[in-house]
Amino acid sequence: MVPPREPAQASDSASAWADELAFAVDLARRAGEVLQAGYENIGTVEHKSRRDVVTDVDYRSEELALSAIRERYPADAILAEESGRHDGRRDRRRGETEEQAGAGRTWVIDPLDGTVNYANGIPFYCVSIGLVANGHPVVGVVLDPARDDLYTATGDGPARLNGTVLRASEKASLGDYVVSLAIIGRGGIWRERRIAKAIRIGRRMGSSALGLAYVASGRFDAMIQNGGLSLWDVAAAGLIAERAGARVTDLDGGPWWAEGRRSSTVSIVAAPEPHHGELVRLLHEAGTTVQTRRP
Ligand code: IPD
Ligand code: CA
Ligand code: CA
Repeated sequence: MVPPREPAQASDSASAWADELAFAVDLARRAGEVLQAGYENIGTVEHKSRRDVVTDVDYRSEELALSAIRERYPADAILAEESGRHDGRRDRRRGETEEQAGAGRTWVIDPLDGTVNYANGIPFYCVSIGLVANGHPVVGVVLDPARDDLYTATGDGPARLNGTVLRASEKASLGDYVVSLAIIGRGGIWRERRIAKAIRIGRRMGSSALGLAYVASGRFDAMIQNGGLSLWDVAAAGLIAERAGARVTDLDGGPWWAEGRRSSTVSIVAAPEPHHGELVRLLHEAGTTVQTRRP
């Protein structure tokens, strides 16, 4: 159940990642203002590929994130959708090499997830900010600025929505599940119909980060996408779903986070433990494999 809105903000002061969480929340709110200022008022829409678009707002939101991180955490590396990887600044006084600078910590940013929705005036999009330390996601912030919904988590604390602790779906029956479902590639629609027989209904919403954050709040009972995702789509929301008690894996039931994955090669199955294995089994029974093209 989605908790009632409370004035409380993400309050995880005991977390080892409290400073980074507070920074990421502030940054997400500032990026959210950029998104809202441009909503239904967008300038240029460029085509990255036949289906994929990018707007001025994607670039402006990303620029804001890059400069804020460089100012506050100059040694940290950054992986951002529109500009790729940036190494941290090395500390010459400590004799750091380029490789050592930011090697342990990387901010992973999707400045606007759900750009097609955004550019078309559909209010289902978000900004996603994750921090990965020593190979593990440790901070996740997803802001839906249209609803003013702030999803947060740290690796050592609970997931929250607008400050209130979240738990993933506790529905007993898979037949009652409403699932964020995107099976891409040839035969995807046919496979979605096979899965649809076991659940209440599937929805393809167009923002994977927000869909995955919805698994944390129980708005979606589960999320499935068999590829086409990149690290910035899942870094923050994968942690948020996991800290709300969902099991999050790749299509084969393996680890969902693997540093260095090429873009569009990431797949996700996120669901509460009691039904996760059954969903993975159904996907395999339908012959679903990881696809790497953008949907
Ligand atoms: C896309 C969205 C979409 C998902 C794609 C992503 P973008 O991100 O999350 O839901 O299916 O795989 O690339 O381009 O809107 O940031
Ligand atoms: Ca994205
Ligand atoms: Ca994006």
